[in-house]
Amino acid sequence: MKSDEILAKVAEEVQVCTKCDLHFSRKNGVPGEGPISAEIMFIGEGPGFHENEQGRPFVGPAGQFLDELLGQVGMQRGDVFIGNVVKCRPPGNRDPRPEELAACDFFLEQQIQTINPKVIVTLGRFSMGKFIPNAKISEVHGLAMRVKGRLIVPMYHPAAALHQPSLRPVVENDFAQLPDLIASAESAPEYEVETPEEKTEPKQLSMF
Ligand code: URA
Ligand code: SF4
Repeated sequence: MKSDEILAKVAEEVQVCTKCDLHFSRKNGVPGEGPISAEIMFIGEGPGFHENEQGRPFVGPAGQFLDELLGQVGMQRGDVFIGNVVKCRPPGNRDPRPEELAACDFFLEQQIQTINPKVIVTLGRFSMGKFIPNAKISEVHGLAMRVKGRLIVPMYHPAAALHQPSLRPVVENDFAQLPDLIASAESAPEYEVETPEEKTEPKQLSMF
């Protein structure tokens, strides 16, 4: 199958998927959108109210902020792929559950493999957790790291910055680094999952 056909098939399957309980609260599945040629993929958490209504990712307040952030680094929504770890809205915007994340991962994996982006920017804890499960977002946000050959840049969720104004400049600053991070993608260090302390303070190797 051609790349565009794979993405279209994922989008169709999401609309009728019943692999987890989130399908009960789905009005529209939100597969995600963006060009096949996208070099950057943003992965959020899951559809909220507006996304569920429209079937499109990041079209509510968090999406407006994301558009602003993209604009600040000279990018437009149409340049990038925007998706989520779960494709159907968790009721009342509750956190997605482990079994829901596991059930939906199949779709996200197909999208990642098809688009094969240069960099994946995770927005928030849940999409960060897919790649660097033990990391703390407060410690790793804005850092580029290579995970199984892919360049991952974890960032705070834009909605977090809307709820917590002190995070706003942090998110803006992380976004401002994106063009440089992408340019130096090849040299990003491989992330050793475990604890962030081990990453910054390598264990002293005994000589004997
Ligand atoms: N928040 C998300 O994580 N994803 C969306 O699509 C919208 C808001
Ligand atoms: Fe299927 Fe994902 Fe929707 Fe669950 S969230 S019903 S796995 S598309």
